[in-house]
Amino acid sequence: MRVLGIETSCDETGVAVYDSTDGLIGHAVYSQIPLHAEFGGVVPELASRDHVRRLAPMIADLLRDTGLNAAQIDGVAYTAGPGLAGALLVGAAFARSLAWAWGVPAVGIHHMEGHLLAPMLETQVPGFPFVALLVSGGHTQLVRVGAVGDYEMLGESLDDAAGEAFDKTAKLLGLGYPGGPALSALAQQGDPDRFRFPRPMTDRPGLDFSFSGLKTFALTTLQQETARATRDQIGQLHADIARAFEDAVVDTLAIKCRRAVEQTGSKALVMAGGVSANRTLRARVDRLMADLGGRAYYPRAELCTDNGAMIAYAGWQRLRTGQHEGLGFGIRPRWPMQALAAGR
Ligand code: KG4
Ligand code: ZN
Repeated sequence: MRVLGIETSCDETGVAVYDSTDGLIGHAVYSQIPLHAEFGGVVPELASRDHVRRLAPMIADLLRDTGLNAAQIDGVAYTAGPGLAGALLVGAAFARSLAWAWGVPAVGIHHMEGHLLAPMLETQVPGFPFVALLVSGGHTQLVRVGAVGDYEMLGESLDDAAGEAFDKTAKLLGLGYPGGPALSALAQQGDPDRFRFPRPMTDRPGLDFSFSGLKTFALTTLQQETARATRDQIGQLHADIARAFEDAVVDTLAIKCRRAVEQTGSKALVMAGGVSANRTLRARVDRLMADLGGRAYYPRAELCTDNGAMIAYAGWQRLRTGQHEGLGFGIRPRWPMQALAAGR
C-alpha cells in the first residue's frame, strides 16, 4: 500500500509517499520560516495562503521524482489537528478532494501521533511498549506507547512547551525566529558554570513540565547582568545565558525521562518533535538510556521537525486497519492526544 501524506498544521508544507513494502520513497518539506521571520513568529493567515500556493506543485513534483502516477497511490493522509485552523483546513480540503478524485480513502491524522511514530521510518525501530518524549513548539509530553493507537499520557507541559520556551528565550536574546536552533548554537560558546537556572518541577514527584518560569529567569538574569556589563561583555553574557537555559531544559527533560522509564520498566525511549533535533538533548538522552540498560530512538534530524513523511506513515497505520473518513472532512485545531486512545 502506498500512502500520500500531507502536513500543513503550522509553518511547514510537507508531502511524502510511504510504501508499506519499500518504506519512505520520497518526501519534501517547504519551510515558511523566511516568510514569517520579519514578524518574529508565525502569522496564521500568511501560513494558510502559502500552503495553498505550495501544495499542488509540491505533490506534482513528488510524484514525478518518485516516478509514481496517481493510480499507484492507495490512500491520502493529512494532518487534521492540532494546529492553526486555517493551515489545517488547506491541507484537509486538498487531501480530501484529491482522495475523492483518485477514488482512494482519506484519513485525518493527529499531528503528535505523526511525530511519535516518526522513528518508525528509520532502520532501527523500537519494540512496543516504549516511552515517548514528544518535544515540539506546541507540546511537551511523555507518553507510554503500548501499540499504534494505544497511548497513555504520563505527563505534559502545564504552560509553555519546551520549544516555545526555546523560542521565547531566543527572542529575549535577540535571536531570530524560530529561536531553538539559534539559541542552541549560541549555547555552544557559553560558560556552563556561570549561571545555574532552576530545573522546574523536578523537586516533586510526577511527570508534568513547566517551562515558562525558565524564560522569566532568563529575562531577570539578562536584565540584572546587562546593567553591570560593559558593551564588549554582552556577547558572552548572551551565550552564557543561552547555555544555562539549554542545560536547564535538557536536564529537566532527562530527569523526567528517567522517571518515566523507571516507572514503566520500558527499555526503549523514543524522542520526537522539533526540539529532539537538539544535539545536547540527544547526547544526554543517549547517555541516560545507556545507564538504564536501554536505548534511545529518534528520527533523522529532518524528520524531527514537521514533515509529510510522519503523516504518510501514521496514515498507513490507520488505513491498513480499515480506518478512513467519510466524504466530508473536519479539522481539530485543539485535539488532546488522550482522545486518540478513546477512539475520538
Ligand atoms: O515539531 P516542530 O517542527 O513544530 C511543532 O509541531 O511545533 O517543532 C518546532 C520547535 C520550535 O520551537 C523550534 O525552536 C524547536 O522545535 N527546535 C529546536 C531545535 N530545532 C528545532 N529547539 C532546540 N534545539 C534545536 N536544535
Ligand atoms: Zn510538529
